[in-house]
Amino acid sequence: MKIHKFQRGDVEVFWGDALEVMSEYIPDLSIDLIFADPPYNIGKNFSKFIDKWESERAYSEWCHEWLDLCIQKLKPNGTIYVMSSTQGIPYIDLYLRERLHILSRIVWHYDSSGVQARNYFGSLYEPILHCVKDKKNYTFNSEDILIEAKTGAKRKLIDYRKTTPQLYSSHKVPGNVWYFPRVRYRMPEYENHPSQKPESLMERIIKASSNASDVVLDPFSGTFTTCAVANRLGRQAIGIELQEEYTKIGLRRLRIQTEFRGETLRAPQKTYKQKITSSQLSLFEDK
Ligand SMILES: C[S@@+](CC[C@H](N)C(=O)[O-])C[C@H]1O[C@@H](n2cnc3c(N)ncnc32)[C@H](O)[C@@H]1O
Repeated sequence: MKIHKFQRGDVEVFWGDALEVMSEYIPDLSIDLIFADPPYNIGKNFSKFIDKWESERAYSEWCHEWLDLCIQKLKPNGTIYVMSSTQGIPYIDLYLRERLHILSRIVWHYDSSGVQARNYFGSLYEPILHCVKDKKNYTFNSEDILIEAKTGAKRKLIDYRKTTPQLYSSHKVPGNVWYFPRVRYRMPEYENHPSQKPESLMERIIKASSNASDVVLDPFSGTFTTCAVANRLGRQAIGIELQEEYTKIGLRRLRIQTEFRGETLRAPQKTYKQKITSSQLSLFEDK
């Protein structure tokens, strides 16, 4: 497949296969942070692509190919976050633990108001591996991602273990179970894609593991959430996507082009008329 490149300032979009783009266009040891959210091998329909390999083995072999490339492109102090399905992640975990340092196995938990499983425990989380090349030299901006420490500080508990007893701190670095609501139709950030990741999730990852002007790469960009958030936070962003339909979302969302091959690029035209209010939005907020 021919590779197309689009650019606006510090943001680059590639329409093409991630393996080919990374091999041909991304210099080795040039990337500070990679967020890899590939197809999960669970049969989702990504425009003209069905996310199903002939076997788990074939899927994991494909993952190993792009993981090798990601490792090659990461700087020596770089970080990579990798997502997959609950079934797929063990293969990736076993492969990566021999090549990188897995610092955290994160659970992204969300609620589901949609169809619920009745005959087994339905899945309400997606796993994320947080890995670095050098466990003594990597970026982790803990101060930028602090959350409220509900237990101690809210109840004004005193920590008597300290030599001089003092109030528990009011903020803390999040643990490895993260609650962020999934992107829903009524949310302003919604795009037409089956597995769009929320900006809130990407914001925590990008703030924690990169600095201003760093280069952030997303090889499976989908709706280009990673690039949009990276750009808003003053990072350089590179996004790759195989499907034309989703590349067009990226071109519009990242303000690279307003039209593509004669077609005006528009945000999803939602059928509901009413504007979302702040009290409705708060229903989606982290509790
Ligand atoms: C799980 S989705 C990513 C969603 C994205 N994180 C977001 O927030 O919208 C995976 C994406 O990878 C794309 N894809 C599949 N195979 C690819 C390949 N070989 N190269 C580049 N992109 C690919 C799919 O079209 C799909 O949009």
